[in-house]
Amino acid sequence: MYAFKITGGTSLKGMIEVKGAKNAVLPMMAAALLTDEPVTLTNISYLSDVKIQSQLLESLGVKITHNEDSITLQADTITNFRADYEFVSKMRASFWVLGPLVGRFGEAAVSLPGGCAIGARPSDIYFAALESMGAMVDIENGYVIAKGPLHGADVSFRRISVGATHNTIMAAVLTPGVTTIYNAAREPEVVDLINLLNKMGAKIEGAGTNKITVTGVEKLHGATHSVVTDRIETASFAIAAALTKGNIFIKGGRQDLIEPIANILQMCDVNLTQTSEGLWVDGQNAVLRPTTITTSEYPGFPTDVQSPMTTLLALADGTSYIEERIYENRFMHVPELNRMGSRILVLPNDTIRIHGVNKLSGATVMSSDLRGGMALVLAALVAKGETIVKRIYHIERGYYKLEERLAALGAKIERVHLEN
Ligand code: UD1
Repeated sequence: MYAFKITGGTSLKGMIEVKGAKNAVLPMMAAALLTDEPVTLTNISYLSDVKIQSQLLESLGVKITHNEDSITLQADTITNFRADYEFVSKMRASFWVLGPLVGRFGEAAVSLPGGCAIGARPSDIYFAALESMGAMVDIENGYVIAKGPLHGADVSFRRISVGATHNTIMAAVLTPGVTTIYNAAREPEVVDLINLLNKMGAKIEGAGTNKITVTGVEKLHGATHSVVTDRIETASFAIAAALTKGNIFIKGGRQDLIEPIANILQMCDVNLTQTSEGLWVDGQNAVLRPTTITTSEYPGFPTDVQSPMTTLLALADGTSYIEERIYENRFMHVPELNRMGSRILVLPNDTIRIHGVNKLSGATVMSSDLRGGMALVLAALVAKGETIVKRIYHIERGYYKLEERLAALGAKIERVHLEN
């Protein structure tokens, strides 16, 4: 098992590059199933989640080549419509092959992902959408079996779901007729999937709004696409600059995609400057101030930044509250942060109360999920003494070569091997 060994107390200074969003790359890889021509995604990081998605797609017959920052996928000989538990259980985004498989080939058998550390994460919205489009959907032996043919339909989501939006769009692009999705997700990653699909010849309107209209076309072709920048990485590094009173340039970073976080940082006297190349975050005069946050769908405060922001508020001068509205169990980082000296209480109704403290101290802590793990790394960067963050495989799902990139900013961080 690998861990990060971090000695806190250094102000981060210099340049860190952020590439294409993991949460955009994964659905785009599934979208490659919709054509027999090659789809090339550039500006990516070859993260462990990208590797898992590749393995799953290869098991279906997709041919894949990649280097460190691009990947090419070609689905000209799909031999298998069954996505195994082995892959889907590791990563929920694997489930998103369901829409393209049933949309292009009229059938799919995809393992149900099940819950995970942050919540139950049901799939009812995916099923209801496919059923409105004419699919027969059955659950057998842990697999969802979906059979077409599909037809265009009006689909209304009972709540906003990023994954169900991806999946329904991908099911609809090759489906005859017009499919209209109401209450769709507006996340930049959904917009970018639509950009890719339109480049491939799809007819999709309404990207970035709650109403998306897909007019089915007969065939899609290949495309090359540079993936939208990772706003969650950007936000995480901006928080690191504020916490460590550093001054960093996030190459590729976009302030317009992290407005709710930018607003809080500015309230803490952090200077943000956007250039055409990226985002400067100057936290040298930062004064951490308390606030109240409610997570919500884009353009609201992203749930994926809730745990990193908890770390910042743990050191603010006063009491903060965070209400988590997207997931029912996303405070696993709290007991670990409290082991480092924070004073955070989990209240009923998915809310935490954070009494700011003036210092944290190093400890051995364990990450339980991707973003919660990052919250611990951020805490370790400012804690007095040494912190060991265990189970970093969670963190490495979404932060590429984190130790190398933070070390380049002056952080004292190493990836170490532990016996247990
Ligand atoms: C995606 C992101 C994840 C982010 C989340 C919310 C990826 C790979 N993952 O996950 O990082 O935290 O969006 O921004 O892009 N729900 C249902 N029924 C469904 C589908 C969802 O009840 O059929 C619920 C979920 O349990 C959750 C909420 O809806 O409580 C939002 O989930 P959703 O937007 O679907 O998240 P993901 O697409 O899985």
